[in-house]
Amino acid sequence: MKTIFISGVSSGIGRVLAEEHIRQGDYVFAVGRHEPKSLLSHPNLSFMPLDISDADMVRVDLREFIINRTFDRAILNAGTYPEMHNMTDLTLEEMRNTMNLNVWAHKQTIDALLSHTQTQQIVALSASPSLFYRKGMGGYAISKAALNTLIQIYAEEYPGVHFSALAPLLIQTPTFSAFLQSDNSRRYPIIQEIRDSVILPLGQAVPRLMDALEEIKRLKSGSFVEMKKLGQGNH
Ligand SMILES: NC(=O)c1ccc[n+]([C@@H]2O[C@H](COP(=O)([O-])OP(=O)(O)OC[C@H]3O[C@@H](n4cnc5c(N)ncnc54)[C@H](OP(=O)(O)O)[C@@H]3O)[C@@H](O)[C@H]2O)c1
Repeated sequence: MKTIFISGVSSGIGRVLAEEHIRQGDYVFAVGRHEPKSLLSHPNLSFMPLDISDADMVRVDLREFIINRTFDRAILNAGTYPEMHNMTDLTLEEMRNTMNLNVWAHKQTIDALLSHTQTQQIVALSASPSLFYRKGMGGYAISKAALNTLIQIYAEEYPGVHFSALAPLLIQTPTFSAFLQSDNSRRYPIIQEIRDSVILPLGQAVPRLMDALEEIKRLKSGSFVEMKKLGQGNH
Protein backbone atom coordinates (compact mmCIF):
# COMPACT_ATOMS: atom_id res chain seq x y z
CA MET A 1 0.00 0.00 0.00
CA LYS A 2 1.38 3.39 -1.02
CA THR A 3 0.68 6.77 0.53
CA ILE A 4 0.14 9.45 -2.09
CA PHE A 5 -0.29 13.22 -1.88
CA ILE A 6 -2.31 14.91 -4.66
CA SER A 7 -3.27 18.56 -5.18
CA GLY A 8 -6.50 19.33 -7.06
CA VAL A 9 -8.87 16.35 -6.82
CA SER A 10 -12.41 17.65 -7.40
CA SER A 11 -12.32 17.05 -11.16
CA GLY A 12 -10.23 15.94 -14.11
CA ILE A 13 -6.95 14.05 -13.84
CA GLY A 14 -6.54 14.63 -10.08
CA ARG A 15 -9.96 13.18 -9.25
CA VAL A 16 -9.42 10.01 -11.29
CA LEU A 17 -5.86 9.62 -9.99
CA ALA A 18 -7.20 9.73 -6.42
CA GLU A 19 -9.96 7.22 -7.29
CA GLU A 20 -7.51 4.83 -9.01
CA HIS A 21 -5.00 4.90 -6.15
CA ILE A 22 -7.77 4.22 -3.65
CA ARG A 23 -9.15 1.40 -5.83
CA GLN A 24 -5.66 -0.18 -5.71
CA GLY A 25 -5.68 0.00 -1.90
CA ASP A 26 -3.42 3.05 -1.53
CA TYR A 27 -4.04 5.88 0.95
CA VAL A 28 -4.48 9.38 -0.50
CA PHE A 29 -3.90 12.73 1.19
CA ALA A 30 -5.51 15.34 -1.03
CA VAL A 31 -5.95 19.11 -1.06
CA GLY A 32 -8.03 21.33 -3.31
CA ARG A 33 -10.77 23.88 -3.14
CA HIS A 34 -13.46 21.17 -3.33
CA GLU A 35 -13.67 17.55 -2.21
CA PRO A 36 -14.08 14.84 -4.87
CA LYS A 37 -17.78 13.90 -4.58
CA SER A 38 -17.13 10.29 -5.66
CA LEU A 39 -14.86 9.75 -2.63
CA LEU A 40 -16.80 11.59 0.08
CA SER A 41 -15.82 10.13 3.48
CA HIS A 42 -13.89 7.24 1.94
CA PRO A 43 -11.71 5.65 4.68
CA ASN A 44 -8.61 5.76 2.43
CA LEU A 45 -8.90 9.51 1.75
CA SER A 46 -7.87 12.41 3.95
CA PHE A 47 -8.99 15.63 2.30
CA MET A 48 -8.28 19.20 3.33
CA PRO A 49 -9.99 22.14 1.61
CA LEU A 50 -7.17 24.40 0.46
CA ASP A 51 -6.71 27.07 -2.17
CA ILE A 52 -3.09 26.34 -3.00
CA SER A 53 -2.65 29.76 -4.60
CA ASP A 54 -3.22 31.33 -1.16
CA ALA A 55 0.34 31.51 0.18
CA ASP A 56 -0.66 32.00 3.84
CA MET A 57 -3.11 29.08 3.80
CA VAL A 58 -0.48 26.81 2.30
CA ARG A 59 2.17 27.84 4.82
CA VAL A 60 -0.04 27.24 7.88
CA ASP A 61 -2.81 24.78 6.93
CA LEU A 62 -0.83 22.51 4.63
CA ARG A 63 1.90 22.13 7.27
CA GLU A 64 -0.71 20.98 9.81
CA PHE A 65 -2.18 18.51 7.32
CA ILE A 66 1.04 16.78 6.26
CA ILE A 67 3.44 17.21 9.16
CA ASN A 68 5.50 14.06 9.96
CA ARG A 69 3.88 12.00 7.18
CA THR A 70 5.72 9.72 4.78
CA PHE A 71 4.66 9.88 1.13
CA ASP A 72 5.72 7.47 -1.59
CA ARG A 73 4.75 10.10 -4.14
CA ALA A 74 3.43 13.66 -4.30
CA ILE A 75 1.57 14.65 -7.47
CA LEU A 76 1.36 18.40 -8.05
CA ASN A 77 -1.66 18.33 -10.34
CA ALA A 78 -3.72 21.49 -9.74
CA GLY A 79 -3.41 23.92 -12.61
CA THR A 80 -5.19 26.43 -14.77
CA TYR A 81 -5.51 26.95 -18.54
CA PRO A 82 -5.57 30.70 -19.16
CA GLU A 83 -7.49 32.02 -22.16
CA MET A 84 -5.63 32.16 -25.48
CA HIS A 85 -4.20 35.62 -26.21
CA ASN A 86 -1.32 37.20 -28.07
CA MET A 87 1.21 38.46 -25.56
CA THR A 88 0.24 42.13 -26.02
CA ASP A 89 -3.37 41.27 -25.05
CA LEU A 90 -2.37 39.22 -22.03
CA THR A 91 -2.73 41.38 -18.94
CA LEU A 92 -0.21 41.24 -16.16
CA GLU A 93 -3.02 40.33 -13.79
CA GLU A 94 -3.92 37.24 -15.89
CA MET A 95 -0.25 36.31 -16.08
CA ARG A 96 0.21 36.68 -12.31
CA ASN A 97 -2.85 34.52 -11.59
CA THR A 98 -1.57 31.82 -13.93
CA MET A 99 1.93 31.92 -12.45
CA ASN A 100 0.54 31.88 -8.91
CA LEU A 101 -1.31 28.61 -9.45
CA ASN A 102 0.85 26.85 -12.06
CA VAL A 103 4.22 27.71 -10.49
CA TRP A 104 4.37 29.45 -7.11
CA ALA A 105 1.67 27.32 -5.47
CA HIS A 106 3.76 24.26 -6.37
CA LYS A 107 6.92 25.89 -5.00
CA GLN A 108 5.20 26.39 -1.67
CA THR A 109 3.80 22.87 -1.68
CA ILE A 110 7.25 21.42 -2.43
CA ASP A 111 8.78 23.51 0.38
CA ALA A 112 6.16 22.17 2.82
CA LEU A 113 6.75 18.57 1.68
CA LEU A 114 10.54 18.90 1.98
CA SER A 115 10.37 20.61 5.38
CA HIS A 116 7.72 18.52 7.13
CA THR A 117 7.51 15.09 5.46
CA GLN A 118 9.56 12.23 4.10
CA THR A 119 8.62 12.18 0.41
CA GLN A 120 10.35 9.89 -2.08
CA GLN A 121 9.05 11.21 -5.40
CA ILE A 122 7.61 14.59 -6.44
CA VAL A 123 5.96 14.90 -9.86
CA ALA A 124 4.55 18.14 -11.25
CA LEU A 125 2.09 17.91 -14.14
CA SER A 126 3.53 20.02 -16.93
CA ALA A 127 2.61 20.27 -20.62
CA SER A 128 4.23 20.09 -24.07
CA PRO A 129 3.69 23.81 -24.90
CA SER A 130 6.41 24.50 -22.31
CA LEU A 131 8.85 23.22 -24.96
CA PHE A 132 7.08 23.79 -28.28
CA TYR A 133 5.58 27.23 -28.22
CA ARG A 134 2.41 27.79 -30.23
CA LYS A 135 0.80 31.17 -30.90
CA GLY A 136 -1.75 32.21 -28.29
CA MET A 137 -0.49 29.91 -25.55
CA GLY A 138 1.93 32.42 -24.00
CA GLY A 139 0.53 32.48 -20.46
CA TYR A 140 0.28 28.70 -20.21
CA ALA A 141 3.62 28.04 -21.95
CA ILE A 142 5.59 30.45 -19.76
CA SER A 143 4.05 29.06 -16.58
CA LYS A 144 4.78 25.42 -17.49
CA ALA A 145 8.31 26.26 -18.71
CA ALA A 146 8.96 27.97 -15.36
CA LEU A 147 7.53 24.91 -13.60
CA ASN A 148 9.97 22.63 -15.49
CA THR A 149 12.88 24.84 -14.43
CA LEU A 150 11.65 24.92 -10.84
CA ILE A 151 11.58 21.12 -10.76
CA GLN A 152 15.10 20.90 -12.25
CA ILE A 153 16.45 23.27 -9.62
CA TYR A 154 14.88 21.35 -6.72
CA ALA A 155 16.33 18.14 -8.16
CA GLU A 156 19.83 19.67 -8.04
CA GLU A 157 19.34 20.93 -4.50
CA TYR A 158 17.63 17.83 -3.04
CA PRO A 159 19.30 14.73 -4.48
CA GLY A 160 17.55 12.48 -1.95
CA VAL A 161 14.13 13.10 -3.54
CA HIS A 162 13.20 12.10 -7.11
CA PHE A 163 11.68 15.04 -9.04
CA SER A 164 10.04 15.11 -12.49
CA ALA A 165 7.90 17.43 -14.60
CA LEU A 166 5.60 15.21 -16.64
CA ALA A 167 3.50 16.25 -19.65
CA PRO A 168 0.56 13.81 -19.74
CA LEU A 169 -1.15 12.65 -22.94
CA LEU A 170 -4.07 14.78 -24.09
CA ILE A 171 -6.92 13.90 -21.75
CA GLN A 172 -10.62 14.74 -21.92
CA THR A 173 -11.21 16.68 -18.71
CA PRO A 174 -14.02 19.20 -18.23
CA THR A 175 -11.65 22.16 -18.14
CA PHE A 176 -9.52 21.01 -21.07
CA SER A 177 -12.67 20.36 -23.13
CA ALA A 178 -14.00 23.83 -22.28
CA PHE A 179 -10.65 25.30 -23.34
CA LEU A 180 -10.97 23.54 -26.72
CA GLN A 181 -14.48 25.01 -27.23
CA SER A 182 -12.85 28.44 -27.61
CA ASP A 183 -14.13 30.25 -30.70
CA ASN A 184 -10.57 31.52 -31.28
CA SER A 185 -9.58 28.59 -33.48
CA ARG A 186 -9.21 30.66 -36.66
CA ARG A 187 -6.81 32.98 -34.90
CA TYR A 188 -5.02 30.17 -33.07
CA PRO A 189 -4.70 27.06 -35.29
CA ILE A 190 -3.30 25.00 -32.39
CA ILE A 191 -6.88 24.71 -31.05
CA GLN A 192 -8.07 22.87 -34.18
CA GLU A 193 -4.86 20.80 -34.24
CA ILE A 194 -5.54 19.60 -30.70
CA ARG A 195 -9.21 18.93 -31.53
CA ASP A 196 -8.00 16.73 -34.42
CA SER A 197 -5.55 14.82 -32.18
CA VAL A 198 -6.19 11.76 -30.06
CA ILE A 199 -7.71 12.95 -26.79
CA LEU A 200 -8.14 10.06 -24.37
CA PRO A 201 -11.08 9.68 -22.00
CA LEU A 202 -10.05 9.93 -18.34
CA GLY A 203 -10.75 6.25 -17.66
CA GLN A 204 -8.23 5.16 -20.31
CA ALA A 205 -5.67 7.86 -19.72
CA VAL A 206 -5.21 7.74 -15.96
CA PRO A 207 -4.08 4.07 -15.67
CA ARG A 208 -1.44 4.87 -18.33
CA LEU A 209 -0.47 7.97 -16.39
CA MET A 210 -0.04 5.87 -13.25
CA ASP A 211 2.31 3.52 -15.11
CA ALA A 212 4.25 6.55 -16.35
CA LEU A 213 4.58 7.89 -12.79
CA GLU A 214 6.37 4.64 -11.89
CA GLU A 215 8.45 4.58 -15.06
CA ILE A 216 9.87 8.09 -14.68
CA LYS A 217 11.52 7.12 -11.40
CA ARG A 218 14.15 5.42 -13.57
CA LEU A 219 14.99 8.67 -15.39
CA LYS A 220 17.34 11.40 -14.17
CA SER A 221 15.81 13.40 -11.34
CA GLY A 222 14.67 16.83 -12.51
CA SER A 223 13.78 15.71 -16.05
CA PHE A 224 10.93 17.13 -18.08
CA VAL A 225 9.25 14.11 -19.71
CA GLU A 226 6.54 14.00 -22.36
CA MET A 227 4.45 10.91 -21.71
CA LYS A 228 3.98 10.30 -25.43
CA LYS A 229 7.76 9.79 -25.74
CA LEU A 230 8.19 7.48 -22.75
CA GLY A 231 9.62 4.15 -23.84
CA GLN A 232 11.05 5.66 -27.04
CA GLY A 233 14.27 6.71 -25.31
CA ASN A 234 14.04 10.26 -26.67
CA HIS A 235 12.62 12.41 -23.88
N1 LIG B 1 -6.01 17.45 -19.64
C1 LIG B 1 -4.94 17.44 -20.41
O1 LIG B 1 -4.96 16.97 -21.55
C2 LIG B 1 -3.64 18.01 -19.89
C3 LIG B 1 -2.57 18.11 -20.79
C4 LIG B 1 -1.35 18.63 -20.34
C5 LIG B 1 -1.22 19.03 -19.01
N2 LIG B 1 -2.29 18.93 -18.15
C6 LIG B 1 -2.07 19.37 -16.76
O2 LIG B 1 -2.67 18.45 -15.87
C7 LIG B 1 -3.18 19.13 -14.72
C8 LIG B 1 -4.64 18.77 -14.48
O3 LIG B 1 -5.37 19.13 -15.63
P1 LIG B 1 -6.94 18.84 -15.78
O4 LIG B 1 -7.23 18.90 -17.22
O5 LIG B 1 -7.32 17.65 -14.98
O6 LIG B 1 -7.53 20.16 -15.10
P2 LIG B 1 -8.91 20.37 -14.26
O7 LIG B 1 -9.93 19.39 -14.68
O8 LIG B 1 -9.21 21.83 -14.37
O9 LIG B 1 -8.49 20.05 -12.77
C9 LIG B 1 -7.70 20.94 -12.05
C10 LIG B 1 -7.81 20.59 -10.58
O10 LIG B 1 -7.08 21.60 -9.88
C11 LIG B 1 -7.87 22.09 -8.81
N3 LIG B 1 -7.57 23.49 -8.56
C12 LIG B 1 -7.75 24.54 -9.40
N4 LIG B 1 -7.40 25.68 -8.78
C13 LIG B 1 -6.99 25.32 -7.52
C14 LIG B 1 -6.51 26.05 -6.41
N5 LIG B 1 -6.37 27.38 -6.44
N6 LIG B 1 -6.19 25.38 -5.27
C15 LIG B 1 -6.33 24.04 -5.22
N7 LIG B 1 -6.75 23.29 -6.26
C16 LIG B 1 -7.10 23.94 -7.39
C17 LIG B 1 -9.32 21.90 -9.27
O11 LIG B 1 -10.16 21.67 -8.16
P3 LIG B 1 -10.96 22.82 -7.38
O12 LIG B 1 -11.60 23.68 -8.41
O13 LIG B 1 -11.89 22.06 -6.49
O14 LIG B 1 -9.91 23.54 -6.57
C18 LIG B 1 -9.23 20.60 -10.07
O15 LIG B 1 -9.45 19.49 -9.22
C19 LIG B 1 -2.95 20.62 -14.97
O16 LIG B 1 -1.77 21.01 -14.30
C20 LIG B 1 -2.78 20.70 -16.47
O17 LIG B 1 -1.97 21.79 -16.88
C21 LIG B 1 -3.48 18.43 -18.57
